[in-house]
Amino acid sequence: MRIKFLLIVICISLSSCLMKPETVLVSPDEAISLEFSLNEQGKPFYTVFFKNKSIIKESSLGFDFENSKPFLDNFKVIKSSTTAFNETWQMPWGEQLDVVNNYNELRVELQEKSDLKRKLNIVFKVYNDGVGFRYEFPKQDNFSEAFITEENTQFNLTEDYKTFWIPGDWDIYEHLYSTTKLSEIDASVKRNHPSLGQTYIPENAVNTPVTLVGKNGIHLSFHEAALVNYSGMTLKVDTDKLSFKSSLVGSRNTTYKVKRTLPFHTPWRTIQITDNAPDLIQSNLIVNLNEPNKLGDVSWFTPMKYTGVWWEMHLGKSSWDYGMEMVDGKWTDTGKAHGKHGATTENVKRFIDFSAKNNIGGVLVEGWNTGWERWIGFEDREGVFDFVTPYPDYNLDEVTAYAKEKGVEIIMHHETSAATATYEKQQDVAYSLMQKYGMHAVKSGYVGKILPKGEYHHGQYMVNQYNNAAIKAAKYQVAVNAHEPIKATGLRRTYPNIISREGLRGQEFNAWSSDGGNPPEHLPIVAFTRMLAGPIDYTPGIFNIKFDDYKKNNQVNTTLAHQLALYVVIYSPVQMAADLVEHYEANPKPLQFIKDVGVDWSETKVLDGEVGEFVTIARKEHGTGNWFLGSITDENSRVIEIDFSFLDDNQLYEAKIYKDGKNAHWDKNPLDIEFQTIELQRTSKLKFPLAEGGGLAISIKKMN
Ligand code: NOJ
Ligand code: CA
Repeated sequence: MRIKFLLIVICISLSSCLMKPETVLVSPDEAISLEFSLNEQGKPFYTVFFKNKSIIKESSLGFDFENSKPFLDNFKVIKSSTTAFNETWQMPWGEQLDVVNNYNELRVELQEKSDLKRKLNIVFKVYNDGVGFRYEFPKQDNFSEAFITEENTQFNLTEDYKTFWIPGDWDIYEHLYSTTKLSEIDASVKRNHPSLGQTYIPENAVNTPVTLVGKNGIHLSFHEAALVNYSGMTLKVDTDKLSFKSSLVGSRNTTYKVKRTLPFHTPWRTIQITDNAPDLIQSNLIVNLNEPNKLGDVSWFTPMKYTGVWWEMHLGKSSWDYGMEMVDGKWTDTGKAHGKHGATTENVKRFIDFSAKNNIGGVLVEGWNTGWERWIGFEDREGVFDFVTPYPDYNLDEVTAYAKEKGVEIIMHHETSAATATYEKQQDVAYSLMQKYGMHAVKSGYVGKILPKGEYHHGQYMVNQYNNAAIKAAKYQVAVNAHEPIKATGLRRTYPNIISREGLRGQEFNAWSSDGGNPPEHLPIVAFTRMLAGPIDYTPGIFNIKFDDYKKNNQVNTTLAHQLALYVVIYSPVQMAADLVEHYEANPKPLQFIKDVGVDWSETKVLDGEVGEFVTIARKEHGTGNWFLGSITDENSRVIEIDFSFLDDNQLYEAKIYKDGKNAHWDKNPLDIEFQTIELQRTSKLKFPLAEGGGLAISIKKMN
């Protein structure tokens, strides 16, 4: 392995000859280079080049603190060193088994030239697929506690990129993406979250990942990795200067945004850099920047598909609550049960039977526990939910025993309603209840304004809440799938029990939002934005696309084939078959795909795609060597050509094809689907039409 580390003096003008030497670090394949420099005032800067094109021009680095001078300038380099690193590590489950982690690192140690002579290290890692850097605050005499009021990391761009963005919301990521030029981003007008009315967007900022496409094919995505004990980063947009600047999520309870005792380091600031859209999805930069597995053997969790008592509540067929009343501080059955409660023993058994019959490993049960009568729209939500007491019509012993007998696992549900004190207090008891029943996965939820008041979902307080809950859950062999979560930053490498999360506008919006739901382009954008951060619990597989029996004014805005393709396109080790049992039973042919499709992959090949237009992904199932392929398109129909050269040599496969019918259209004819079974091999090349809002799903099984 080769590492290039140059100390060069740039003399563009006489005065610049007096500037400090620059440090250049290149990626292992030498396509990306990063320069670090201090100007005459001792202000730190970095630049990034990709294939000799400037990507990030001089951008400064620093911090503002409460009650002390900022880290702005007046620095000198006291030491700098480089190292090269190359390893291949394995995911316990994931998009692929083997992950190559190959980078060159530069560590620059800075110290203020006068006054307190405080120290700051900046560590840069340059990979073939991008750049990561973070700040380290080393242990030192004159600086023991940092009260950070802002982080000032600039990303000064060189082009007015086409940008795929959501607003810099401090509470939720459940927004539709906008596609505009960087110079036309206006986050103030894009707040679309009809039912989750809480949000705080103080400035023209975007949330990450934000993905940019350049005129000459350069693709960039900005995000962060290893968000631990720090605030989430939004990116403030300067539409004139074409730049982003870090803007941390704050709190109304403190005048600072992050408080840390030294020594500590920040999360990594990441820039994924590729010259085509598929390689963005293929990038492992975010997980690679996280520390290795700290949990050891996690074989107690198995990736699985799941059904559940869920969509029926979003459609209004049943309800989470039972109709209890609070009497003397205790939830009591006072005879007011309305009879619409969804999580009954009987209903859950129906899902268990259906799952067992269809090669689906799990059943999620929402609304099983007391408290749902007062979970939303109430100011005082502490002490309302109880994570161990079932409603009277739900027999936990009976249900779990029945599930076990059928080889199905019950997935626990903890809706915290963002009442953090109540949840924190009950975690040990709740997770040990799960352990007792042999449940290894919990879906948690954080709907509503955070309690304690003044905190936001994405600030330091909540980052710690989410991370600590997952770390605690691991002690009870429980894996976590959080909704209304903090963003994914690759921590699943360190804590593999962080299996999946929401953190986007999920399928549920199609059931009830008043703005028409998620448009056909939604997931072709998500695949190149949110999905770069990590696994997504989108809850695909709605077959009854229009559900007129329940909601006349809502629908899913894709074809049925598109819904099937999502099992491959969207990665998650827990993948829901979200529709009602009766809707699946009425459609055995497309159900076959859900029955067959894998959830754990040894290889992923992103075959083709353009951000926001379409994407085609093939994944090889871990263990069987069978392949599954998914392709989705936006509101435009198109013909895609698939080259099957990713298949094994000298192997014949049976391919079951699920494709849009001739008249398929996401709105006019979403259920038009065609089925075909053919033989395939490595040399096959086939063309498929995708309808407006359409898709394609193929299962490709080895023939003997
Ligand atoms: C919002 C979650 O996204 C959804 O999946 C869940 O059903 C509700 N909260 C209730 O917890
Ligand atoms: Ca949600």
